[in-house]
Amino acid sequence: MNMARNRRITDPEEIQRRIKEHGRWWHEIELGPGIVTPGDDSNRKKLPVLEDLGLPSNLTGLRALDIGCSDGYFSFELENRGAKVVAFDFVPSDYTGFSVAADILGSEVEYRMDNVYNLSPEAYGLFDVVFFLGVLYHLRKPLSALDAIRSVMKPGAQLYVATFMIDEHVILPDGGVTTLSALNPVLQDIPLWQSYPGGSLNGDFTNCFAPNMCALKGALSEAQFKVESSVSLPGGGFVRATAVDDPLAAKYQKLDGRLEDSEFDPSVPYYLDEEGAEHKLTGRREDNMGSSTTGQAPGVSPAKLSWWKKIIQKCHA
Ligand SMILES: C[S@@+](CC[C@H](N)C(=O)[O-])C[C@H]1O[C@@H](n2cnc3c(N)ncnc32)[C@H](O)[C@@H]1O
Repeated sequence: MNMARNRRITDPEEIQRRIKEHGRWWHEIELGPGIVTPGDDSNRKKLPVLEDLGLPSNLTGLRALDIGCSDGYFSFELENRGAKVVAFDFVPSDYTGFSVAADILGSEVEYRMDNVYNLSPEAYGLFDVVFFLGVLYHLRKPLSALDAIRSVMKPGAQLYVATFMIDEHVILPDGGVTTLSALNPVLQDIPLWQSYPGGSLNGDFTNCFAPNMCALKGALSEAQFKVESSVSLPGGGFVRATAVDDPLAAKYQKLDGRLEDSEFDPSVPYYLDEEGAEHKLTGRREDNMGSSTTGQAPGVSPAKLSWWKKIIQKCHA
């Protein structure tokens, strides 16, 4: 760790006292020489994975956003690498250990309490590097979150995602756990999300949906990202993706957000105007009625098939 900043508190006893006083820690953060907060998470092991994906050691002059920062380990790491950092979470900074750690470290990271769905360029400006680690699978609206995140990224900016994934951990109806490839190797190439009603993942009611790697790549491409590197590990997966401009994806992002925060806009497509759709004047769609002239399964239109093939290609990209 580059110790560029001046630690505000250096007395080991004072540091130990503040750590104990806070009590509950998620992250392991070194707040003094050899003094590490007693976090539950393996956060320090994730850093080399992010570096393998392409995280630079020098972020001088860049703006970085750490979404779901919790105690702030990754925010402080981004700051150490020279970035101007916004730490972001939907709880107050003293609810987690963030305030205590920032105080001891003398950190200048800006803390913003907000929900990921509220990210907008008007409220936050644009970022060069965004961390979205350990949050996606907690969300009821994962695709909306990716849309909001993309909206605060400069073209070419880098997004790092870490999430629980199902490639190595599918929950079966009897509660057993297996891998996708053990069920059938082809499942790894089909974009799938498993949902977790109640506390069905680890008894934790905040866990909602987890994708396989193929589905995460598909979701990122729909939010105007290009996946650059990825790794699936037993505990989850990591992806680095570049923010790109994709007019087709942008069009359908707008369709889903219709009337959310804007007036009715007739230039945004309606469902009958979807790409590749063909309609008779009466408006009834034959390709949805179970008939097919292509020899494909009933109900699968050529337009749907070509869309499906594109998604599968993205999985292999
Ligand atoms: C499992 S922790 C991950 C912490 C850290 N990013 C990491 O990878 O170690 C999830 C964090 O995301 C925050 N969070 C969950 N849902 C959120 C939302 N909708 N908007 C903002 N923060 C959220 C939680 O408060 C929590 O601090």
